[in-house]
Amino acid sequence: MGRVFVAGSINMDVVATTERHPRIGETVAGDAVLYFPGGKGANQAVASAKLGAPTTLVGRLGADAFGQELRAFLTAQGVDLAFVKDTPGTHSGTAIITVANADNTIVVVPGANAKVDADDVAAPALTKGDIAVSQFEIPLPAIASFFARARAAGATTVLNPAPAKKADATLLDLVDILILNETELGFLSGMELRDSDAPGRFAEAARALAPDKIVCVTLGKRGVLALVEREPLLIPGREVKAVDTTGAGDCFVGALASQLAIGKPLRDALAYANIAASICVQRMGAAPSMPTAKEVENALSASR
Ligand code: ATP
Ligand code: RIB
Repeated sequence: MGRVFVAGSINMDVVATTERHPRIGETVAGDAVLYFPGGKGANQAVASAKLGAPTTLVGRLGADAFGQELRAFLTAQGVDLAFVKDTPGTHSGTAIITVANADNTIVVVPGANAKVDADDVAAPALTKGDIAVSQFEIPLPAIASFFARARAAGATTVLNPAPAKKADATLLDLVDILILNETELGFLSGMELRDSDAPGRFAEAARALAPDKIVCVTLGKRGVLALVEREPLLIPGREVKAVDTTGAGDCFVGALASQLAIGKPLRDALAYANIAASICVQRMGAAPSMPTAKEVENALSASR
């Protein structure tokens, strides 16, 4: 069995729930303030560890109270934190999130995440069969360095380019599997895409962006469209009542990585990740809403 190595962000999510999102310049009354462990890297690592793959997180925390809380939570979820450093002089990553009608807006303040560097990602030794995962909440040069080492070791690289930003072709060249939502695909492909577009339109954009890679476009409640050897594969979303979609994409990424690390074929791993993410959206919060393997297996058996 391979290991999953996630180089990525660790945040404390400060969540305000409200009936509707405020418009610019407007104030609305909220219902509750909640504190959830989050950050794309941490969320993906928790999903992977809970779903059965030995998982190591590489990243940074501030030397503060949030950092201590996040460390204790991640340890309890079974994530190996041997390569997560405390960084004096800065705060732990913090996300200010508003959730209304199951939809969110997020402002991320990176803090210690912005200090992750090439030395940090060079510390763990990857081997053939491992899965290296990253996202765009740590500096891009660190991700490129991490993937170059992973590739040299024979590991598979998985990039979730979120939140979307311009990236060098040299970084994209180091990626085996791209996982992104419609907005990120529109941004990176330069094509105008809408939620309501037909799956064929997303396949066209995915081919334009990365013709030779496996590309998975997550489509929210519509499920996921994967481009495997240039052929589109649509896995429909499971019908559930979503309460908070924060971390759904991360759950998908972590679940897929874990299944590939334990040797599952890609198509099975995609179906598994789609079910895992449908469980995640039925709970509040990011990292704490990641499902267990038992929950995913029960849902998979019920859907057969
Ligand atoms: P976020 O940024 O909110 O974490 P995302 O935009 O990266 O999410 P989505 O495409 O919204 O990711 O969702 C990821 C996956 O989660 C989907 O491909 C699907 O498997 C599952 N999912 C999301 N929303 C729903 C829903 N309402 N019902 C069922 N499954 C869902
Ligand atoms: O993808 C969801 C995550 O994005 C949240 O947990 C928040 O921390 C932001 O990084």
